[in-house]
Amino acid sequence: MKSFIFIWLPLAVIAAETSPPAFIPLPAKVELAQGRFQLNTSTTIAASADLSSEANYLASHLRKTSSLPIPIENTGTIVLSINTTLPNEGYQLNITQSNVTITGGSAAGVFYGIQTFLQTLPAAVYGQTASPKADWSAQALRIEDAPMCSWRGVHLDSARHFQPKAFVLKFLESMAAQKLNRFHWHLVDSEGWRLEIKKYPLLTEVSQSSPAYYPEEIPTNPTFRAKYRYGYLHGGGYYTQEDVREIVARAKELHITIIPEIEFPGHAMAAMLAYPEISTRGQSPKDISNITSDLIGVHPKAIQFLRDVLDETMDLFPGEWIHFGGDEAPKGQWKSDAFTQQRIEELGLRTINPKAPEDALQAWLFNEMSTHIAKRGRHAVGWEEIMHNGNLGRLASGSVIMPWLSTGNAVASANAGYGIVYTSVGPFYLDSYQVAGAGEPSALYTGPITVENIYRYNLFPAGLTETGRKNVLGAQCQLWSELMPRTDDIEYQAYPRLCALAELTWTAPERRTDIPNFLQRLSQHGARLTALGLNHRRVAPPSQLGWTAEFLNANKPWVVALPESTVEKLRQGKPLGLRFEYRDGQNGLDIQSVELLADGKPVATDAHEGFTGTHPNKPDYLLTLPKNTSGSLTLRIKANGSGGNDSRGEVVLKP
Ligand code: ACM
Repeated sequence: MKSFIFIWLPLAVIAAETSPPAFIPLPAKVELAQGRFQLNTSTTIAASADLSSEANYLASHLRKTSSLPIPIENTGTIVLSINTTLPNEGYQLNITQSNVTITGGSAAGVFYGIQTFLQTLPAAVYGQTASPKADWSAQALRIEDAPMCSWRGVHLDSARHFQPKAFVLKFLESMAAQKLNRFHWHLVDSEGWRLEIKKYPLLTEVSQSSPAYYPEEIPTNPTFRAKYRYGYLHGGGYYTQEDVREIVARAKELHITIIPEIEFPGHAMAAMLAYPEISTRGQSPKDISNITSDLIGVHPKAIQFLRDVLDETMDLFPGEWIHFGGDEAPKGQWKSDAFTQQRIEELGLRTINPKAPEDALQAWLFNEMSTHIAKRGRHAVGWEEIMHNGNLGRLASGSVIMPWLSTGNAVASANAGYGIVYTSVGPFYLDSYQVAGAGEPSALYTGPITVENIYRYNLFPAGLTETGRKNVLGAQCQLWSELMPRTDDIEYQAYPRLCALAELTWTAPERRTDIPNFLQRLSQHGARLTALGLNHRRVAPPSQLGWTAEFLNANKPWVVALPESTVEKLRQGKPLGLRFEYRDGQNGLDIQSVELLADGKPVATDAHEGFTGTHPNKPDYLLTLPKNTSGSLTLRIKANGSGGNDSRGEVVLKP
């Protein structure tokens, strides 16, 4: 009988001495060796000049937290080097009693080798304060590792609520510790434009005269929620170009590429209020809302505006991609505007796409701007809508599509030759509860979206061709900030779910089958999140008597070893009480029976229906061992997911 408990229990016992550190994301290959590498006053780092940034990153973490000198010298007990025959972001980490070598396929590979090395040290290594008394030694081991996906992303909405520069820097630091490497920065939207553009100073000013409402308390009053959500210009600040340069420079050191989003033609109320002449009708928007019916136009003033803004954006952000938004842009205004219709005729778009010429016009605008940024070697990214209504195959080659609505569109886009990054509402929108039930902060969508939902996501669904598979760049979580006024809320919604995303995108699917093992590592990883100063949700280690979605999906009775103390009490004739307690997930557990087995044969049974789920039911079962029963005792539980297969909980034994 396959049961994850049998997989786990012996591992936990045998491995106590030599268990690998709780790596997240799980590396491709880990071999433990004898002994430990001790950091001490003679520890030095050696690295070639092209790795000075990585050497400094490592040295500064070690110095700050261990209080050891850790100089960077010509020879070192910790040696960083590049071997270009390794995969680009891959690395080998070799820790022996006497030295540590980190060899990467590139500087990024070395950086990820450093991250893995840091995970062999006390969690305090991620902190800002000295912990000289911690055990500054690392388990000897050998790791070979490389990421599965090149796009391991996080999107942050800084438009609806503005976050200070210090928070963005801290957030990037936390991403790097999970080996996440793409920061999609949602800098503009209807509610505010947060990026200083020197040629158009009113963009950032227009929302600053509006209230900056950043309550300490999370709003529970639904009318407050509505106010956050829809279309109120919102003050609170913006990023100067100097701020952006500082953030971009730090991101480079952390091997994170920033993808700025300059959204058009919709979600652009703030821009059109600042410069009404760029709107379709050249007038200030009347429809004050988030998904406003007002669109940026395609007339020369609007085109010039977009080019100018993109030029300054490219001056600031050196990465390959600029995001053009493109989502939720209702076309009514373009349909009724004479000049726009004339352009559709001139460009022959009604012939190309008679059913949706305005959508073809959106693709044309996207391509115009793609051509503009291609002159500087850049590519465009768009939300899924950019390929809707007949645009697939007509978008500039090299464009990246973010499917957030439909897996079918993800597959079609990838098969058609576009890079795709999964951004699906379920399970990658983190403005949702993480667990069902009370005690979670307010969230826009109810969810819950659990770490397991993210962890189990299938990046390679049926229908992908071989080419399509290659075009799956990765996945990305979205942190929309309408209901996250405080940066604490953003951290809480992000962590630890971003750790599940990190492992989903880094680790190959065949290494991601054991969810209890992941939850076990995640519970230990929490100490690192704490050291990083994050307000994160704490994850308890999975219980020996716990169920997870894996158990529910197996659809088989669940056979559980009993703790020795429980067996002893049963043999003394004491009854064993069991209480089923749901913890989280979308569905509960329907229990049919609980049996006590001696050498695999039932000797006592409590068969009655029980249910535990989001309702506060905690059904009880009772078993007594018949006198003089011999043989090894186990429990067999017959239960199913109630209407689904995603929940987690525990069986509490009494006494
Ligand atoms: C989106 O959620 N509108 C991309």
